[in-house]
Amino acid sequence: MARHLITSALPYINGIKHLGNLVGSQLPADLYARYLRARGHEVMFICATDEHGTPAELAAARTGEAVADYCARMHGEQSALAAGFGLSFDHYGRSSSDRNRALTQHFAGRLAERGYIREVIEKQVYSHADKRFLPDRYIEGTCPNCGYDKARGDQCENCTKQLDPTDLINPRSAISGSTDLEVRETKHLYLRQSALKSEIAAWIDSKTDWPILTTSIAKKWLNDGDGLQDRGITRDLDWGVPVKRGDQDWPGMEGKVFYVWFDAPIEYIAATAEWADATGAGEEGWRRWWRLDEGAEDVTYTQFMGKDNVPFHTLSFPATLIGSGEPWKMVDYIKSFNYLTYDGGQFSTSQGRGVFMDQALEILPADYWRWWLLSHAPESGDSEFTWENFQQSVNKDLADVLGNFVSRVTKFCRSKFGETVPEGPAYGADEAALIAALTARLAAYDANMQAMEVRKSASELRAIWVLGNEYLQSAAPWTVFRTDPGKAAMQIRMGLNLIRLYAILSAPFIPFASARLLEAMGATDAAWPGDLTEALSALRPGHAFTVPDLLFAKISDEDREAWAERFKGVRR
Ligand code: 2FM
Ligand code: ZN
Repeated sequence: MARHLITSALPYINGIKHLGNLVGSQLPADLYARYLRARGHEVMFICATDEHGTPAELAAARTGEAVADYCARMHGEQSALAAGFGLSFDHYGRSSSDRNRALTQHFAGRLAERGYIREVIEKQVYSHADKRFLPDRYIEGTCPNCGYDKARGDQCENCTKQLDPTDLINPRSAISGSTDLEVRETKHLYLRQSALKSEIAAWIDSKTDWPILTTSIAKKWLNDGDGLQDRGITRDLDWGVPVKRGDQDWPGMEGKVFYVWFDAPIEYIAATAEWADATGAGEEGWRRWWRLDEGAEDVTYTQFMGKDNVPFHTLSFPATLIGSGEPWKMVDYIKSFNYLTYDGGQFSTSQGRGVFMDQALEILPADYWRWWLLSHAPESGDSEFTWENFQQSVNKDLADVLGNFVSRVTKFCRSKFGETVPEGPAYGADEAALIAALTARLAAYDANMQAMEVRKSASELRAIWVLGNEYLQSAAPWTVFRTDPGKAAMQIRMGLNLIRLYAILSAPFIPFASARLLEAMGATDAAWPGDLTEALSALRPGHAFTVPDLLFAKISDEDREAWAERFKGVRR
């Protein structure tokens, strides 16, 4: 038994996430957490909402709520959806928590003491109408390069030229449209990442087992252009962690907050402290996961995220931790993902294109989505959601292969032998062959799950289901029953035991269906199987079961077409 710390990238608070967000971090992290728990490891699985920054402020302004109220409400919605999808976080925290405020200020104080912070006077655009400084991307104007009139202060979307807000012709506030703008001087803190470059580079170089996607992005940012640059970690905003050095005020930084990307990853630690507060585990309860001097030496820490988050987790957050000079647990393995596209284009939150978590659960149970998303996880490249592919995969894998197996075995048994596991002779040669084939597949499944090879794991699991079907097809107990009811009973005993085995092995992917199967089989022991001959004899003759209701309904062509139409764009 080992100790595993698992974190998923923290979803932004503003708005319900789409399926692309879900499959890029939270869902595969859940798969891994469930698997490791099933294998008997001690797991701490952490996620939280990422609540600070301008987008949250603007979203709250749109709904007319105070930003703190908006975040509290959206946190409630997101955590209900996480539960709806079966995401088994040990704690779903909030980056706006007291714990994160204190810890973020603590890190800033340590970094300052150790000389890793410098103060910089910058020029920034102030909007009189909005009564605030405007982040670069909230300034719009005409591109000096191509003449596009909706260029943003950080980049022109039309010609892709990188811009400074002062380059724009006729600049205006993207929030209010006001042109009453002024360039003002303002002081900010910079984290001296450049001074930590060699330590970070050595740390990345030591991670020889990381996936190529992760390492290539990390190295590109580390070495390209000017290399690892110092980074502004404060902003002129109201909503965020107030700038302090530990619990001391920071002269000249009054009214400013830390940049959202400075405090968000610190929330991985703070959320574990929130967990300890909520469960009464105490200070040592969370510190044993995070402090190398207090027990975290034997923790294996795995992070899950989309590829756009990799630079922050391979460079910036490590710079915070290393720069603090304190013995914090650093990540051991970063599993990163490409993007999921939607029907030939991008998922779009602003245009409501694609399926969002709330809508997904409105139309189908979570397991249907979990299965499709995980079995098509964008690991080696981007992958695409299409309704045809989704329909096919649900109807074939879940309904035809797994669902049909369960239904045939349990209904046949009920009609011929009643709702208890039938007697019959010992398993014979066919069953031994099946067990040998299953044993090989299970070893491959375990290896892929341990390696976080999500798609390969799904295909091994599907192959394990298929073996049961093939066995049933060739054993044909419905035919055998006519001449040798005892043998048919033995075959069905195998079938019922296979259902229990499938429930256990499938639980990381489809936990809700698995729970129903275990319950229907009256299985009290759901331990991960070691020896399969033993595992497939767990349900003894005479053991009572029930026939479960339809496990997976097929998706009809009409439903598929209606959903494709409904989700093609512009969220109501
Ligand atoms: O890209 C995102 O969705 C960010 N909210 C991820 C933050 S991960 C962590 F560092 F907090
Ligand atoms: Zn342009």
